[in-house]
Amino acid sequence: MEQRQLGSSHIYVSPIILGTWAIGGWMWGGTDEKEAIKAIRASIDAGVTTIDTAAIYGFGMSEQIVGHAIKGRRDEVVIATKCGMRWDSHEGSDPWPQKDMHGKEVIIRKNSRPASIIHECEQSLKRLGVDVIDLYQLHWPDSTTPFEESWSAMVQLQHEGKVRAIGVSNYSVEQVKRCYDVRHVDSIQPPYSLMRRGIEKDLVPFCQRHQIGILAYSPLERGLLTGRVSVNREFPKGDHRRELEIFSPENRQRVLDALEEIRPIAERHKATVSQVVLNCTIHMPGITAAIVGARGPDQALENAKAAELALTREERLQVISTLSTLAIH
Ligand SMILES: NC(=O)c1ccc[n+]([C@@H]2O[C@H](COP(=O)([O-])OP(=O)(O)OC[C@H]3O[C@@H](n4cnc5c(N)ncnc54)[C@H](OP(=O)(O)O)[C@@H]3O)[C@@H](O)[C@H]2O)c1
Repeated sequence: MEQRQLGSSHIYVSPIILGTWAIGGWMWGGTDEKEAIKAIRASIDAGVTTIDTAAIYGFGMSEQIVGHAIKGRRDEVVIATKCGMRWDSHEGSDPWPQKDMHGKEVIIRKNSRPASIIHECEQSLKRLGVDVIDLYQLHWPDSTTPFEESWSAMVQLQHEGKVRAIGVSNYSVEQVKRCYDVRHVDSIQPPYSLMRRGIEKDLVPFCQRHQIGILAYSPLERGLLTGRVSVNREFPKGDHRRELEIFSPENRQRVLDALEEIRPIAERHKATVSQVVLNCTIHMPGITAAIVGARGPDQALENAKAAELALTREERLQVISTLSTLAIH
């Protein structure tokens, strides 16, 4: 698979990155660890070099599963993880009561204080079983810590050789600028899909001007853009999609109707609708890669192959225009 430079850093990522939030189980109705490991290995076998995880995914579980799956293959993968969401500390902002995968109450807080970042990095290195993290990202802005202080801690980790590249996730353009003024930002990780294109207004031009990579998360809108979420499909208890507005029966139908319009393009290329959607996403201006979740090896393989489709410019424009009718922010 093609490899793309992450901003102006020395890191190269695959345009399809395997996302491992669902693999951690939390907010996705649990995980099947064996399937998860197969998904990670199938992705690597198919040329996906990059895996995105976070400490908070499954409260450490996702990082552990990734660490287990890549044992003996460390030099084949680029590992991206995140810090700044603590479930094991009383400090931080925006307390968010949640239940873990076993139904136990936990309170999650945004915490990007320097000492917390340094502590979390050590924990992630251990769970992943690696000496260095290739891309370390601040997960969410913490309004109680000056951005410059958090970012300086990230720079320190890089100087110490604990992480190779540093980025932020869910930051506004103003927040990215504040970090950038301290030291270059290698990448951002915002939500982005062909029906959620809000970042094109300000973040994309800013990143293009300053050679900052963009890793788009939830490019399939949590499965909605695969065409496999029927109007009647029920999500299990603990799956956050039960409560999301975009998964209302009316919206599912709108999405299914729009995807039907692009099905002929998929058929022409012997591909699936989700592969067409992913392929168009990774060719949008400024987008370095799409981070796609997969529960098992079949989904992982299908998503990986999306990078290889040779759609024409006209076909891509048609897909973009059809899905723009579904626009949300
Ligand atoms: N930085 C952040 O705050 C943030 C937030 C969200 C996500 N992310 C990152 O982005 C990654 C991807 O986002 P996401 O998991 O929210 O959404 P996504 O990639 O849009 O959707 C993933 C889900 O869609 C379904 N799916 C995937 N491939 C499929 C296929 N080929 N056929 C049928 N169904 C398929 C699977 O769920 P089912 O099989 O259960 O339907 C899968 O869990 C995450 O894993 C995480 O690494 C980051």
